[in-house]
Amino acid sequence: MKSIIKAEKIIKKFNDNEIVLKGVDLSISENSFNVLLGSSGSGKSTLLNIMSGLLRPTSGKVFYQDAEITSFDNSQMSNLKRNEISNVFQSYLLLPNLTVAENIRIGISKDKKALPFKEIVEMLGISNILNKFPPQLSGGQQQRTSIARAIIKNPKLLFCDEATGALDEDNSKRVIKLLHLIKKQYGITIIFITHNIKIANTAERIITIKDGLIYKDMQNKTSGNTDEMNGEI
Ligand SMILES: Nc1ncnc2c1ncn2[C@@H]1O[C@H](COP(=O)(O)OP(=O)(O)OP(=O)(O)O)[C@@H](O)[C@H]1O
Ligand SMILES: [Mg+2]
Repeated sequence: MKSIIKAEKIIKKFNDNEIVLKGVDLSISENSFNVLLGSSGSGKSTLLNIMSGLLRPTSGKVFYQDAEITSFDNSQMSNLKRNEISNVFQSYLLLPNLTVAENIRIGISKDKKALPFKEIVEMLGISNILNKFPPQLSGGQQQRTSIARAIIKNPKLLFCDEATGALDEDNSKRVIKLLHLIKKQYGITIIFITHNIKIANTAERIITIKDGLIYKDMQNKTSGNTDEMNGEI
């Protein structure tokens, strides 16, 4: 399978010289749903942020398709982030004084054709709240709005750092189902950090980080099955 993003020998030290990533190699296939597992502090967010260009590694390379993005200058990096890569975080990061519709439109890139607005908001079940403001919404509605904002530009890659971490069971399940649908419908590759084993079990590939390295890397035959997610999320 063709790789969409690849990390090679990634090392990350922070100022206090703690080595968080100790030479991580990871290649992610196009149009796949991947979960990154690992205990708190194991370096999941650090790796995700390096792969999505939010953070520079101490050494090692990241390739987006065939381009080495670790050697990109700021303008090449902002082009990549504007057109190819999106991030969704646990805290939804919506602008409180803009409506849902306005928040979503912020995600549109001037460089490329956006996905159809109506189709996206219908799929995410937010077409009835487009004129509301974020403080008037539930957590699930805010997260679905932030997902709409992230995918409206039709990115190739969606990085989700504990995107369901603040949601209850029903909303988590709904968001995961929608992400599977988004992957299928628009061919967007998903890399999703979670602590939740039931969410992990819906992924095609489950990657576990431990002691700064990939500790386990499994293909999952029962991927896409969100039925198991009833109960204790
Ligand atoms: N900007 C930073 N400066 C210094 N140390 C950092 C920084 N960011 C992360 N770290 C350290 O790197 C280690 C890994 O952090 P990271 O956020 O990647 O973990 P994580 O696996 O995402 O954990 P969690 O599940 O709690 O979110 C931690 O020990 C953390 O303190
Ligand atoms: Mg984290």
